Order: sequence, then C-alpha cells, then structure tokens
Amino acid sequence: MSPPAALAARFQEIYGHPPTAIARAPGRVEFIGNHTDYNGGAVLGAGIDRHVWVAVSRGQPGQFRFCSDQHQEVLSLPAGSKNRLEGSSSWLNYPLGVWLSLGHFGLAQPADFDLMVHSDLPVGAGMSSSAALELATALAFLKLAGAPSISTQQLAELGRHAENNFVGVPCGVLDQGTIAFARQNHLVQIDCSGPTFSTTPMPAGLRLWVFNSLTKHALIDGMYSARHAECQEAAKTLGVKFLATLTPADLATRSSQLAAAPARRAKHVIEEHARVHEVVAALAVGNITKVGSLLTASHRSSQHWFENSTPELDFLVDQLTLVPGVLGARLTGGGFGGAVLALANADFTDASAQIVAHAYAMKFGRSPQVIPLQIADGAQLLTS
Ligand code: GLA
Repeated sequence: MSPPAALAARFQEIYGHPPTAIARAPGRVEFIGNHTDYNGGAVLGAGIDRHVWVAVSRGQPGQFRFCSDQHQEVLSLPAGSKNRLEGSSSWLNYPLGVWLSLGHFGLAQPADFDLMVHSDLPVGAGMSSSAALELATALAFLKLAGAPSISTQQLAELGRHAENNFVGVPCGVLDQGTIAFARQNHLVQIDCSGPTFSTTPMPAGLRLWVFNSLTKHALIDGMYSARHAECQEAAKTLGVKFLATLTPADLATRSSQLAAAPARRAKHVIEEHARVHEVVAALAVGNITKVGSLLTASHRSSQHWFENSTPELDFLVDQLTLVPGVLGARLTGGGFGGAVLALANADFTDASAQIVAHAYAMKFGRSPQVIPLQIADGAQLLTS
C-alpha cells in the first residue's frame, strides 16, 4: 500500500471517518549556505525523496485532535489553543503554530480538525522534518477550510512564521523555502535578503548521500539561538542589518571592532555567502570538482569558525573526502549533530558507503544511517 493509502486507512481506523485532505512535503538538505539565511545571505537547498504526509478532516466541535505513527495515542486540545507544549507532546507545536499563523496571515483556518501524520524522514538528522510537517499541515488545513490556494512564497513564509513565533526557533527561510520551492533534480537557490527564490539544475550523473551521525546535542535549540545572537551582535557592531551585506575584504578591515566569538561567526557567514555564489558560478559552467571542493571548504569553516560541528561530523567528512567518487562533503543544516551530506559521482557506490560506515562504527561504537537520496519535488496537496 502506498504511504497515503496506508495513512488514509489508519485515519479511518483511529478516527472512524476518512480524511478530507492529504498533503505531502519533502525533507530538505542544505547543499551549501550554512547559517547564512538569517544573516540575509544566499543558500542552496534541495528537496529529498523522504517525506512527511499529513491527513486531516473536520473533527469534533471545539476540539483539535492529533495522532502520528510515532506517537500512538490520540491527543486532544481545546480548539484555538495557544499554549506551547513541552516534552513528548511538543510535536503538536508545529500544527498548532501553523493554525495560528494562518490566522496571522489572514488565511482560512478550520474551526476544528482531526489530524494524522506519517513520515519516513529521520527526525533530528538536520533534514527538516519540522518544516516538512509545517508545510504539509498548512496545505491540508487550507484545503479543509475550503481555501486551498496559496502562493509558494507565502507557504514558505507561513511555515517560517510558525517556527519563529510559536515553536520559538529564530530560523531563517532555508528549510521552508527549499521545501516549498523544491523541484526534482534541481537545487533551490534563495537570496534570503528578499527573500527571492529560483531553481537551478543539478548536473547529471551526481548523487547526494546523507550520513546521519545519529547524534544530536542535548541543547541544540539553545546553541542555534546563541549563534543567531552572536551574528546579530556582530551585525549591530558593524552597523549593518545583515552580515551578508559585507564582503570578506570589509570584514578584514573591521573585525578588530568585534569580540572574539562574534568575529569568528561573522567570518564564517560572510565567506560562506561568497562560497554560495562561487558554487552557483561553478554549477553554471559544469565545474563539479570546484563545487565539491567548495562544499568541503564550507564544512571546514563550520568546524573552525562557526564551531557548530561535532567530532562525529568531522570524522565523516574526513573519511568521505578520502573515498574515490566523493567530490565534497559537509555538515548539512544547523549542526551540533545531525548529518553530513556528500556529493558524489557514480564511482561512489553502496560498497564505498559501507566502508565509511564501518570506519565510523569502529571509532564511535555505532553505525551511521546511510541514505542515498534523489532530489524531489516540493510540498503538495495529494487529494483534491
Ligand atoms: C537550520 C535552520 C535554518 C538554517 C540552518 C543553518 O536548518 O532551520 O534556517 O539556519 O539551520 O544554515
């Protein structure tokens, strides 16, 4: 049975009636552009063939009901609830945040709902399961409320609004923008100062692989917010709204104005923004060797200047870049754990991936999750 058919059957079993709408959103990888998004910089991302599906119907008057394949019981909240949840129920903050953001944007909200989630996207791997849940929920809610049309850009901004204002993570638009605009075999390019969105083809013959370290720093959200605050401090001291408006040469002449940590963060962000443009230029002329080396340079900058890598991620990059067929490798997403992305050609095979996984297991005592990816289309409503 296909995932949406299985989801519809389980929805019927749990809630006693069929879903009215099912939407699907892919996870994403950050191809390059690490922590550039909330600094007004450029990023390249890609939708991946791992997804979150959300099924909804109208439910009991005065109630919001939630269920997922990872959390067996049905949870119920009073309709319109605005309280952020903690602990094992905290995943409800994503659909609740989306419901509230629909109101903030003046869009239609269902008065009550039954909701069920299915996912084959790893959680905590830096592949944006939360943004995928937000965007699939938004499309399903809009359909349920009888007003299914929304522009792709507004969908991205709605998801980010929910994340910033209800979930409480000060993220940029990379995750939601990539998931909204994703296109098969293309990279999504975002100029986050607008934001403006476009797509560019992925050269043929290349493959993305994810190596999920299966580690995640316990204080991950706090560390993300701390880096965000250091970047804001650097921008304020240097008198700019966004760090990415400065060039590496500007920073070289002015970094003595900054304290040590904000200076390191600013160096990473400003050089990373420049690297994204170098990748775009290299892609345009088909120089994939250069693309790969820029990806690895991005990781080294995260490792040494932004300090959001971990020994596990560094080890995976070190190993991967020694293996024939790997053009480049880097941490993907916020960092402090999660996954490494490798860009490879056909010389890199399942057997090569197993060699890297084995080396990792020998060092850290457990195997990484290895995921060969296809680049997939963006968030969409499946039933009409
Ligand atoms: C997380 C955030 C994004 C972005 C990346 C780092 O994925 O959600 O907005 O900041 O980290 O580039």
